[in-house]
Amino acid sequence: MPKVVLAYSGGLDTSCCLSWLKDKGLEVITYTADLGGGGDFGQLSKKAKGCGVKKVYIQDLRLKFIKDFVFPALKAGAIYEGKYPLATALGRPLIAEGLVAVAHKEKAQYIAHGCTGKGNDQVRIEVSVATLDKKLKTIAPLREWSLKTREDEIKFAKKHKIKVEATKKSPYSTDLNLWGRSIECGILEDPAHEPPETIYQLTKNPRSCSNRPTYITVEFVKGIPLKLNGRKLPAVSLIAKLNSIAGNCAVGRIDLLENRLVGIKSREIYEAPAAVVLHLAHQELEALVLDKETAQFKKLIGEKYAQLVYNGLWHSPLKAALDKFVQETQKNVTGVVKLKLYKGSCICVGRKSPQSLYKKALATYEKGDKFDKSAAEGFIKIWGLPYQK
Ligand code: ARG
Repeated sequence: MPKVVLAYSGGLDTSCCLSWLKDKGLEVITYTADLGGGGDFGQLSKKAKGCGVKKVYIQDLRLKFIKDFVFPALKAGAIYEGKYPLATALGRPLIAEGLVAVAHKEKAQYIAHGCTGKGNDQVRIEVSVATLDKKLKTIAPLREWSLKTREDEIKFAKKHKIKVEATKKSPYSTDLNLWGRSIECGILEDPAHEPPETIYQLTKNPRSCSNRPTYITVEFVKGIPLKLNGRKLPAVSLIAKLNSIAGNCAVGRIDLLENRLVGIKSREIYEAPAAVVLHLAHQELEALVLDKETAQFKKLIGEKYAQLVYNGLWHSPLKAALDKFVQETQKNVTGVVKLKLYKGSCICVGRKSPQSLYKKALATYEKGDKFDKSAAEGFIKIWGLPYQK
């Protein structure tokens, strides 16, 4: 029997995929990557086995996700369209790597996923899979089957004896990992409509936040956050802890009307407390330690990097080349940033670095000024020369 490795979340979509693939005469192996989105993996495994799956792979990739995907994107300053820290987008190429590895181990010819036919995720997974092994074929049941609505899927599931959880039906489609949560569909599809408070899970309502600001410090070494509030923490714990601290201050809510790769505009809400804090802190530290030309040029690189990640080109030569550039710029990105979190806002209130390029003697308007004002006159004359009539 030909084998297929299915990216499996245990939800309704991928459970239907599972049975649909079996109906096609394939032996299904499930693959689940833990990127910190939570969930009961024992339950998930039971569910897959209940559907007749013999091999269930569940892999804890939290550390790899943070070290090899999130931190490079953080160092690059990769934020899509000025707002989205790319939680979902960064997870896909890693899931693709996992699928390909299992396919090789199991000698499977196919991989399958439960992405819809009009989103970015199908592109990200399939482009990565093809880049890693072009002989593997992909099956995307949601692009092929005739199930149109959730009700169709529930009917299909019941027919195939898939347990449909009695949870109340959520009108939203969500995705969660350590770097953030994405929420779309339902009322959010009206971009003029304010998102209801009930969609949020990682961020508190600003109204119910403390009336006192929360101060935190983040310490970076060569662009990587190593300490939170003076304490060294393992990467995964640092992100998790920061999600909780910043989320408690309502920090990290993002409302983005975005340009999808597949040519449509869509409205997505994100919650990314740690990502928002760390990107800001990292930018503030870079402002202190990077020379002007590098700092300004790097902004363009960050934008391009974000587009590559968003557009599914993680495994591309340009992305690899940009990583080298970014790495070179991070040599001196070491220091501490102090931030103030308050009812949804996060502002930097201090930064310090042994590699600081800030020179008080040149900047000061007070005693001890070393700036050579006499040189300014000639500088201005020549600077303005091209514009004189
Ligand atoms: N729009 C985001 C992206 O393309 C998130 C996609 C997944 N969103 C979701 N709610 N399932 O990266």
